[in-house]
Amino acid sequence: MENERFTIKRRKTRCCLIMGLCALILLVILAISLWVAFSHKQYNSGDSLKETIISRCQTFIQNNRTSSAYDCQKIWTVFEQAFVGKDPCNVPTDAYDSLINTIIQDPICNKMLFWSKTKHIVHEFTEKRNCFQTLEDTLLGYIMDGLTWCGKEGSNETFTTGCPSWNDCVNHTVKSFWNRASAAFAEAACGDVSAMLNGSIATPFTPTSIFASIEVKRFNADKMRSLTVFLVTQENDGKSCDDPSLKNLQKELDPKLKYSCVSVAKSTIQECISHPDTACGACW
Ligand SMILES: *[C@@H]1O[C@H](CO)[C@@H](O)[C@H](O)[C@H]1NC(C)=O
Ligand SMILES: *[C@@H]1O[C@H](CO)[C@@H](O)[C@H](O)[C@H]1NC(C)=O
Ligand SMILES: *[C@@H]1O[C@H](CO)[C@@H](O)[C@H](O)[C@H]1NC(C)=O
Ligand SMILES: *[C@@H]1O[C@H](CO)[C@@H](O)[C@H](O)[C@H]1NC(C)=O
Repeated sequence: MENERFTIKRRKTRCCLIMGLCALILLVILAISLWVAFSHKQYNSGDSLKETIISRCQTFIQNNRTSSAYDCQKIWTVFEQAFVGKDPCNVPTDAYDSLINTIIQDPICNKMLFWSKTKHIVHEFTEKRNCFQTLEDTLLGYIMDGLTWCGKEGSNETFTTGCPSWNDCVNHTVKSFWNRASAAFAEAACGDVSAMLNGSIATPFTPTSIFASIEVKRFNADKMRSLTVFLVTQENDGKSCDDPSLKNLQKELDPKLKYSCVSVAKSTIQECISHPDTACGACW
């Protein structure tokens, strides 16, 4: 009898403990989801997209004195007109023509750098060193980098969540923007042009990449003198400049352009990033 009561008591205690633990877990889950929902809502409303775009635009203009002719409010208005009220899968590249024409920036000949599957290291490099300029270092690219946006048919709102993903459709709101901006950047390419490709993947020159499908096709041999590919390798067993996909790249280029390829270890680039005093040309 004593023994039985003791067992019941123990069971009750265990029961209470488990229930308390469950309640605590539920509370934590609730708190986290509330926090996620709240911060999401704050971060992702159309208003905050507008704020982000305008503040990035102003930052860029402040840090690059040459571009003070741009009106950030106007850039937002022209940007919005490209997609607001439209089906997010029905925004073709030419919807951004007015935006591109509003932000015409003089190219920096001999410094333009294209990239494919090397975004991180490339931007680490251009951030620290003034050797190259990528699309994301121009006003338009700097403003839009990493952002998501779309409109909706029959609505004048701007959305940053619930938009289709990149591969859902051809005339995708954000994809069309980058395709259009990349085309403009490539059309303007002049002098000695560079491209950083990834030597650790199966095809460094991937036919479906923006670089292969849009940029290379728009290079103008009358403005450009050469294309230098920097093939970034991580280990010594990566791809070399003899890779068949790079032969395809060479075939696509106007024969008037001088083509060259240099294999560069990622560690060499990192070395160069951390020694800003070395000359750009001495990096590799
Ligand atoms: C302009 O300023 C931005 C923001 O500080 C910077 O990231 C970018 O590299 C600058 N661009 C040029 C061309 O100087
Ligand atoms: C994408 O837009 C272009 C230009 O308006 C159009 O010709 C094409 O049919 C569209 N493609 C799809 C799949 O909607
Ligand atoms: C090359 O691509 C691989 C796979 O996507 C990635 O892990 C690696 O960081 C890339 N290398 C560089 C230098 O960006
Ligand atoms: C959207 O339309 C409504 C109703 O016509 C209007 O009150 C509102 O100001 C508009 N919002 C924007 C962002 O244009």
